[in-house]
Parts: sequence; structure tokens; C-alpha cells
Amino acid sequence: MWPSTWRGEAIGLVTPDAEFDSNLPDLLCVHGSGGRGAEFLPLLERLRGAANGAAIDLPGHGDTPGPGRDQVQGYVDWLAAYLEQGHSRPLLLGNSLGGAIALGMALERPELVSGLVLWGTGARLRVLPKILEGLASGFGPTVEFLAQMAYAEVTDPARKERGRRAMAQSAPEVLLGDYTACDRFDVMQRLGEIDLPCLVVCGDGDKLTPLKYSQYLAEHIKGARLAIIPGAGHLIHEEQPQAGAEAISGFLAAL
Ligand code: COA
Repeated sequence: MWPSTWRGEAIGLVTPDAEFDSNLPDLLCVHGSGGRGAEFLPLLERLRGAANGAAIDLPGHGDTPGPGRDQVQGYVDWLAAYLEQGHSRPLLLGNSLGGAIALGMALERPELVSGLVLWGTGARLRVLPKILEGLASGFGPTVEFLAQMAYAEVTDPARKERGRRAMAQSAPEVLLGDYTACDRFDVMQRLGEIDLPCLVVCGDGDKLTPLKYSQYLAEHIKGARLAIIPGAGHLIHEEQPQAGAEAISGFLAAL
């Protein structure tokens, strides 16, 4: 079972399978800025039989109490404390900010992690000033802009609208903290220290963390594989969950 508490407090955690299959690897998904674990369910459903999958709500997101953090290290410390109480040493799948957290875990607490799936992210995540300034001064229009940026051009407008509505439920200070944490994050010179199995996955229409970022990760992390998902933007798990699940299944089978 995945622990559903953090230091005795209930947190948000979703999983398609309540029971672990001890023959399968464990995979924990970590969402990006203003996200929540439930967005990974379409992906995790497709990984049944390949992994014991779950997705967690970071502090201040979904059903996990706040506050949020404004440094990736703050989220790394929180996730490390979560993993220390469980029996599992999972693979971490991290999207965007979640990928930065997964990289931070691999660098700071590798004993808690058995591998990485870097899912629309990068080793450095500078943020457009328009986003940072906009979140501080005009939340609604900035969320609208972010929702447009997060999806590929080809993605169904109804899905984009659902994504915009979900992001608009974020507490403004949490979303600003998330993007501030991204903007401060830079491990480009440290990737050679990582010694874990690693799959890098990027949508070919990702505008927030362009393909160049994933190519850099795959070139600088020892033994990493790169999968490019056609027709996906920054949120592959929502836009192309089947193709994303196939990439992960192939990676897991080769471990
Ligand atoms: N992997 C590989 N290369 C990277 C990188 C990464 N993670 N992050 C930056 N770089 C490269 C850039 O491509 C650039 O290369 P170039 O000089 O050959 O063009 C160089 O490093 C410097 O880029 P950056 O640090 O981003 O600074 P900048 O002043 O050039 O650009 C932004 C700043 C905000 C305009 C830019 O980072 C951007 O467009 N970001 C994407 C949009 C966004 O806000 N995303 C949110 C991420 S959560």
C-alpha cells in the first residue's frame, strides 16, 4: 500500500490499484505547477499490469494541506519525508516542476528512488516574466495564457478548457510559488552525478519545456533513453496517455 499520510496528516494520493503486486515495479507520479495527482489517472489506468502506479498531491495542491513551496528543495524535502515512511523505493515520474523534484531526489536522496521518468521537464526551468509578473498581478488572464501554453496546438479545445478550469482552482500564492521554484531551478551542470535508470519523455508540441530540454537531459544523464510523443504538448498524460503508457511499459520491461 502507498502511505496516504505525511507525518500523520492525510494527503492526496490516487491509485488505480489499492493492492501492490510484488512482482511489479512501483511508480509514483509527481505533477507540475498548479497540478494534482488525479490528472495522471488516464495514464496509470493504462499501466495496470506493468507497474504499481500512484500519483501524489504536493503540499498546497489537491487534497494535500499547504503551504506550497517556492523552492524545489522544499518539495524534495517533503517528498523524501513521505517516501521514508513507506516500504517502497519507487521510480519517480515527474512532470515539469515534478520533474525538477524527481531530479532533486535523484541528486539529494538517491537511496529513496529506483529510477526516473522525466516527463515534459528540464534541468533548468526559467519562466517567462509574463507568467511570473502576471500571476502576481492578474491571475485569471495568466491562467488562461498558461492553459494555452500547456497543450499542443492539435489538442482538443474542450480538454484545454478543462485544464484551464482545474488550474484556476489553484491558490494564487501556491501557483506563484510553484513557478518561482521552477524559475530558480538549475541542475544543468549536475546531471552527470545521476546514476539511476532514466527515461526522458517529451511531447513534440511542448511549448513550456521544449524538446531541446529533454534532448539535453537524455544526452547528459548516463544511459538515459528519449521518447518523443507525437501530438502531445506539456501534459502528455492528459493529451496522449496511451502513447505515454507504451513508452513507459517499454522502459520498465527493459529494466
Ligand atoms: N535544457 C537545455 N537548454 C536549456 C534549458 C534546459 N532545461 N534551459 C535553458 N536552456 C538554454 C536555452 O535554450 C538558451 O539557449 P540559447 O542561448 O542557445 O538559445 C540558454 O540555455 C539560456 O536560456 P534560459 O536560461 O531559458 O534564459 P533566456 O533568457 O534565454 O530565456 C525564457 C528565458 C523564460 C524566455 C525561456 O526560458 C523560455 O522561453 N522558457 C519557456 C517558457 C516557460 O516559461 N516555461 C515554464 C517552465 S516551468
